[in-house]
Amino acid sequence: MGQSMSIFFVIFLLINCVFSWKKDEFRNCNQTPFCKRARSRKPGACSLFATDISVREGDLVAKLIQSEKGVENSENQEHPITSKPLVLTLSIYQDAVLRLKIDEDRSLGPRKKRFEVPDVILPEFLEKRLWLQRVKEEESHDGSGTLSIFYLSDGYEGVIRHDPFEVFVRESGKNGKKVLSLNSNGLFDFEQLKDKKEENEDWEERFRSHTDTRPYGPQSISFDVSFYEADFVYGIPEHATSLALKPTRGPGVEDSEPYRLFNLDVFEYLHDSPFGLYGTIPLMISHGNSRGSSGFFWLTAAEMQIDVLGPGWNDEFSSVLRLPSDQKRIDTFWMTEAGVVDAFFFVGPGPKDVVRQYTGVTGTPALPQLFAIAYHQCRWNYRDEEDVYNVDSKFDEHDIPYDVLWLDIEHTDGKRYFTWDRALFPNPDEMQTKLAAKGRHMVTIVDPHIKRDDSYYIHKEASQKGYYVKDATGKDFDGWCWSGSSSYLDMLNPEIRSWWSGKFSFDNYIGSTPSLHIWNDMNEPSVFNGPEVSMPRDALHYGDVEHRELHNAYGYYFHMATSDGLVKRMEGKERPFVLSRAFFPGSQRYGAVWTGDNTAEWEHLRVSVPMILTLSLTGISFSGADVGGFFGNPDTELLVRWYQLGAYYPFFRGHAHHDTKRREPWLFGERNMELMREAIHVRYMLLPYFYTLFREANTSGIPVARPLWMEYPSDVNTFSNDEAFMVGDALLVQGIYTERAKHVPVYLPGDQSWFDMKTGAAYKGGATHKLEALEDSIPAFQRAGTIIPRKDRFRRSTTQMENDPYTLVIALNSSKAAVGELYVDNGKSFEFQQGAYIHRRFKFWNGKLTSSNLAPLGSGHNKFASECIVERIILLGLSPQPKTALIEPANQKVDIEWGPLLLRGGKSSSVLTIRKPNVRIADDWTIKIS
Ligand code: GLC
Repeated sequence: MGQSMSIFFVIFLLINCVFSWKKDEFRNCNQTPFCKRARSRKPGACSLFATDISVREGDLVAKLIQSEKGVENSENQEHPITSKPLVLTLSIYQDAVLRLKIDEDRSLGPRKKRFEVPDVILPEFLEKRLWLQRVKEEESHDGSGTLSIFYLSDGYEGVIRHDPFEVFVRESGKNGKKVLSLNSNGLFDFEQLKDKKEENEDWEERFRSHTDTRPYGPQSISFDVSFYEADFVYGIPEHATSLALKPTRGPGVEDSEPYRLFNLDVFEYLHDSPFGLYGTIPLMISHGNSRGSSGFFWLTAAEMQIDVLGPGWNDEFSSVLRLPSDQKRIDTFWMTEAGVVDAFFFVGPGPKDVVRQYTGVTGTPALPQLFAIAYHQCRWNYRDEEDVYNVDSKFDEHDIPYDVLWLDIEHTDGKRYFTWDRALFPNPDEMQTKLAAKGRHMVTIVDPHIKRDDSYYIHKEASQKGYYVKDATGKDFDGWCWSGSSSYLDMLNPEIRSWWSGKFSFDNYIGSTPSLHIWNDMNEPSVFNGPEVSMPRDALHYGDVEHRELHNAYGYYFHMATSDGLVKRMEGKERPFVLSRAFFPGSQRYGAVWTGDNTAEWEHLRVSVPMILTLSLTGISFSGADVGGFFGNPDTELLVRWYQLGAYYPFFRGHAHHDTKRREPWLFGERNMELMREAIHVRYMLLPYFYTLFREANTSGIPVARPLWMEYPSDVNTFSNDEAFMVGDALLVQGIYTERAKHVPVYLPGDQSWFDMKTGAAYKGGATHKLEALEDSIPAFQRAGTIIPRKDRFRRSTTQMENDPYTLVIALNSSKAAVGELYVDNGKSFEFQQGAYIHRRFKFWNGKLTSSNLAPLGSGHNKFASECIVERIILLGLSPQPKTALIEPANQKVDIEWGPLLLRGGKSSSVLTIRKPNVRIADDWTIKIS
């Protein structure tokens, strides 16, 4: 190798070690003691039986005791089985939700109360508890012994098998089929807290240079959960991987890690890995075409690892496990380090039912302000005020709408959040006011690491008040992050959250104005010099909670406190916008999340869809991926394709690392700018539809972006399709994930037609179409039978669109019918909660389009008024060509036009356009076409 070659090689190595996933920095299951022990257990190893079963205050209560056999066998186990009983409680709730808790018997006096995650379960959910009346005992038909059975809902019952214990939900009636079960494979294990008696290795664990003390000895809880009649399982974000989860153990699976749920700041994550990323939601959803969906949710904030067990994984144990042979099922294995068993069984039976049941427990997504669902422009960093003004005006110059400009960490004075680098941003309020005058907003970043600098007011106050997380010795935990030596606020403590939220008041956050919103990053928490780039597990929180017990929820509390802060500063008059990287069940109530530091590669574009859909399925409807890819420089084609796809993400933001080249849309030549502008325009046009969907998510939990099988639950072709997705029930979007693609195969489900959004051309449902890949857009189709409201005028931002007229696009099905909805409110305040909104239903049937009210006629109704009108109605799939359109009952004639919509790939189709009917969206009306 010549000298220049070797220099090149060294640089290559350096680049590779700086810019690639550092696998060794993170533990695998084998290096994680609880996971290693749990994974080595054999099916049937659990010998706990349920006894003393009784009904107490409307719950079913039982003890779990080790059988004689189990105690004998325990000598062979890696850890001795404790003979102390566990307490099992089963509660039932409306909508057929079964809750199972298993904890140590507190009356036997464990030293410490095991951690139960507060402030996640909605108080309203607890009020839905039903009083369990009666438990009947019965001998099982399959010889598996005595069962205790209780009513769960009309259609379902809950069952405990006594020995070995198993909990399941089944359909009611004789030979009712199982839906979900726990411990059918006998893998349940619960290592109880211990008292330190002697020094030995068990009281510590090591990883790389870090030693973690374990004051209560080794801990773990693990068990198997089975989903019956399931073809696939989904959920448990966050991983960069396929939507349908792949088996991690079983025949033919080599050496896979379980899906890890541990909130981590992973530098340059891979695009196909079960490795845990920034957030956690321990909710798994199954789906199959014979029964539908069910769900299982385990509320714990400790590290979790989950195996999906492939068919045949337990074949050699089948004789000892009395599993129903007439039902197909998917087995899974759940392992955690700490906490208690607090698990929820959701029976579905449709995918939307499971999501509704789950968000009934943890909350539906907050309704964002309208601006927040438009386009966001971000970069690490917009350097100074001049840069901000320049970028802002370029958007106008090039006629590209955008709503929000973001400032990353460099805007602060030395990464002291709530401050400004005054050399770069001398007049932050003026800057925000100027953008606000154009109807635009700004976002600044506020991270949870607080610079340990006595002259920094936040640090001074926090350290004086003792508000920081402590290390195992009781001192303020000190770790390294963007701001250098830093401490972390103990967000578990409600008093600290309240103090923190006060920091967002306009008096405290100098230089902030009402148009400024917040971005919470690094809240896993990220600690550059900590174990696995996070906080040691033995760090201590409020109430002596160890970090190992709380870890996955830390970012959630931070997000919660920030969001509360924005509500408080506006005295409850405006909805907050807070983007968070870390998340946990319930995060949907506080704002949006994004998929963190992705890379400018085609495969990262592809994986963004299953990542967003998984979040959607698990309650987090408002999510997106960095458009363009955070690391690296996307080539122009990738960037354009990313804008075309990102325009359909629920959260749509362009963002980039500071080492990347600038990539605002106008930097790539006229044609490419046009393409990006067109993509952004599509989003703005569809905002009324998106906003209606965000409201639907807010009321029902049903997400904005949906896997195809959520809309077509019995179409098996959709079950593992994660390249296309639905936006609401009316739009199907197919990404293009390869360079210079000539064609894109698009599967269109169902037996109705689909209409190309651009041309109006009809395509048959239930078939895969090989479409030409066009430069100007990715394939998007409107489903026959739907009506989509749009606003087609191009403006600078959503603010200017407020009074704009609507276009209704009606795609007729084979019965020449269609339905759709429109939700409108002031886009800002909480008044919609008192009924200040317009909610319309549009229906086309029998040649007539009618608009009727969907809002309940209550006290708040009519508080929101709108003069907006419908200026255009487009009908797709109409034949024969009609002659007139009349607004009834006055029979006022309106202009119609018959002609091609647009040309795309040589295809076009004739559609009917009704011009200027000018009916108000707030009114009831009918338009007759004949
Ligand atoms: C983290 C974030 C990224 C941000 C950067 C600097 O890497 O994920 O979005 O730009 O920190 O704040």
